Amino acid sequence: MEIPKIIEKKFIEIFHSDPLIFRSPGRVNLIGEHTDYNNGFVLPASIDKAIYFAISSRRDKMCKFFASDMNESFDFSLDNLIYSKKGWPNYLMGVVDQLKKRNYKFSGFNCVFGGDIPIGAGLSSSAAVEAGLAFALNNLFNLGINKLSLVNIAQMAENEFVGVNCGIMDQYVNIFGENGKVLRIDCRSLENEYFPFDYKNISIVLFNSNVSHSLALTEYNQRRKECIAGVNIIKSEYPQIVSLRDVCVDMLKETEKKMEHSVYKRCKYVIEENSRLLNACDALRNHDLKTFGALMYKTHEGLSKEYEVSCKELDYLVELTKDNPKVYGSRMMGGGFGGCTINLIENDAIEDVSKYIIRKYKHKFDLNVNTYVTKISGGTNIISIKENATA
Ligand code: GLA
Repeated sequence: MEIPKIIEKKFIEIFHSDPLIFRSPGRVNLIGEHTDYNNGFVLPASIDKAIYFAISSRRDKMCKFFASDMNESFDFSLDNLIYSKKGWPNYLMGVVDQLKKRNYKFSGFNCVFGGDIPIGAGLSSSAAVEAGLAFALNNLFNLGINKLSLVNIAQMAENEFVGVNCGIMDQYVNIFGENGKVLRIDCRSLENEYFPFDYKNISIVLFNSNVSHSLALTEYNQRRKECIAGVNIIKSEYPQIVSLRDVCVDMLKETEKKMEHSVYKRCKYVIEENSRLLNACDALRNHDLKTFGALMYKTHEGLSKEYEVSCKELDYLVELTKDNPKVYGSRMMGGGFGGCTINLIENDAIEDVSKYIIRKYKHKFDLNVNTYVTKISGGTNIISIKENATA
């Protein structure tokens, strides 16, 4: 049975009513890593792995959840949102918290959710939960919230309630993603541009390292601080700058001596990554995936050596693809310290490359690699509408 059907069936079994069903996708990011919180550019796409929500309203103030992948329930009252040690309920309560803070009026609801986005693989299952619920509640209660505000609500749920200071990329592409297109987001103006990414002979392939190092969160916050520290030093020479988006390599070099070497390296990476992304978009306009892929390798090098958010497992996965003319590009994806690499591979080579990587990686780290051949599909949407969705 397909996942949305399973979710719907579970909902009817638990709550004895017909729900609305929503689909909320995971994401990949082609290029532009650790640039979103520096007011820069990113180039993500929503994919064919998703979380599905079955939901209907209640007459009281209770919010009742069943997480089908974990086989766990969690209930709370709209009047009593308390951080949960369980983990997953916070992504949901965070959204309700944001809606309340913005004075939206709504009742309690019943919800079953679950899907096939692997957790901890860097495919943004958390943003899918947050943005998916925000979208679903907006629809269920006719709240009239526009798309950009939904993005903001989902991001703030994570920043304020979950306590993770993520940028805007994941929630943005979840809501704005389109079938067969990558999305260039300008994280300063929040404007976007779609680029078709639909090639007959090339696929986006993810190799999941199956590691997620506990450093990830502290190091993420540390990188954000280092970037701000860099901006403050550059400001002493160039008071007009607001973020690394306004800085070019020459300006950075002039102030190099005033900053710690690690701060210099972080800033250099971000500045170069923004211009790499713009070049990558030019390559896309020319349908030149070889140039695009070469830029991905450069991004990995920067993330590994200058931004220092890679790890030996990810470096090895990238290394294994080099010198194979059928692999155009490969790099670690997302926050770092684990998760997946993203690769552009000719279709007829995917099986061989994947087998080779699985064998070598197992031999070196005694770990398995999962291969996901992804398709770019649409952003969060409603997939079935039934009447009488009130308990
Ligand atoms: C995580 C964050 C994003 C972004 C990436 C790094 O996925 O949620 O906002 O900062 O890391 O590019």
